[in-house]
Amino acid sequence: MQAAFIQKPGPAESLQYGSLAVPAIGPQDLLVRVGCSAINPIDTYIRSGMIAMGLPSPYIPGCDFAGTVLACGAEVTRFQPGDRVWGSNQGLFGHQGTLAEQIAVPEAWAYPTPDSVTDEQAAAGALVSLTAAQGLFLHSQIRSGETLFVNGGSGGVGAIVVQMAKACGARVLTTAGSAEKQDYCRSIGADVVFDHRAADLDQQIQSELEQNGKIDFWWETLRTPNIARTIPWMNKRGRIIVMAGREAQLQFPLGPFYVNDLKLIGFAMFNASAEEQQQLALRINQMLENGSLKIPIGKRIPLSEAATAHQLQEGKTLRGEAEFFGKIVVIPELT
Ligand SMILES: NC(=O)c1ccc[n+]([C@@H]2O[C@H](COP(=O)([O-])OP(=O)(O)OC[C@H]3O[C@@H](n4cnc5c(N)ncnc54)[C@H](OP(=O)(O)O)[C@@H]3O)[C@@H](O)[C@H]2O)c1
Repeated sequence: MQAAFIQKPGPAESLQYGSLAVPAIGPQDLLVRVGCSAINPIDTYIRSGMIAMGLPSPYIPGCDFAGTVLACGAEVTRFQPGDRVWGSNQGLFGHQGTLAEQIAVPEAWAYPTPDSVTDEQAAAGALVSLTAAQGLFLHSQIRSGETLFVNGGSGGVGAIVVQMAKACGARVLTTAGSAEKQDYCRSIGADVVFDHRAADLDQQIQSELEQNGKIDFWWETLRTPNIARTIPWMNKRGRIIVMAGREAQLQFPLGPFYVNDLKLIGFAMFNASAEEQQQLALRINQMLENGSLKIPIGKRIPLSEAATAHQLQEGKTLRGEAEFFGKIVVIPELT
């Protein structure tokens, strides 16, 4: 089978495309023919060595997948050949990832793909939807009528947080870096969208909060969060989620934080258990089916050009270069 792989951590160009053996499956694994996989920032951190993980050689990067079950291990109970499945959490902690025509996936980390949902939508939404759902429903709870601010609403995670929070009845404020991206955020339900490049951004936010009330839930997507700026904008008992910026050091005004009963919540999606994710995946499936969650697709890349997909993701997340918004998906059958 064809796959994209590295021999050792390195730049995006070190991703090779070639033939590898079809993976063997264990008793609890599924062999899945990949219809689509998607790129996330963590794939690039692992590939480059920015996050050090013991890697096999060759190593196939990639967390997200959707496809069709080709074969099942003897102890598999939830799926059978021909079933359509999606999932994330691959390519981590020394396991092979999803940039391949066929992958072996433990069934605990696979979820049924609804008939009405394409492989592209299921794969593109996998890690980002599970992340958004963990923050909004597992580590905290968004409630109807609350005001949620997503810093980075056109991003992979941010766009899903906007849609999930809206579906829960929240009022959603967000930021995006171009007119097109701001229009997109409005189209998925954001009530107020700020240009994060505006020189008077903070005054604009301040004025909105003075008119319509402070923030109950702040979702920070940046790798360089400015929590000192956020804290005064929060309502009592507000929650602030951070989920990026391994090297970041925060300036932290403790007084207004504890005096207002605020909570700071950090999490990494790969820490959730398989059982927790299965529950959240059911909820994501319902939203994909009823149309309240739509995953924006930014680029469709053939598997043979996986290196380009990684370059695009790095430009977007690490250098803020991307003119496009939406997920970068990798499609084995695309030529
Ligand atoms: N903890 C976890 O479990 C977890 C899970 C997923 C991702 N992450 C991390 O979360 C971060 C975001 O991931 P992602 O997939 O959403 O990345 P992404 O798709 O690259 O999105 C990043 C977004 O940040 C926005 N942005 C850039 N500069 C900004 C600024 N000054 N103010 C406000 N927004 C700004 C960009 O908006 P514009 O394009 O509109 O400028 C872009 O849409 C990454 O660092 C990733 O590693 C963590």
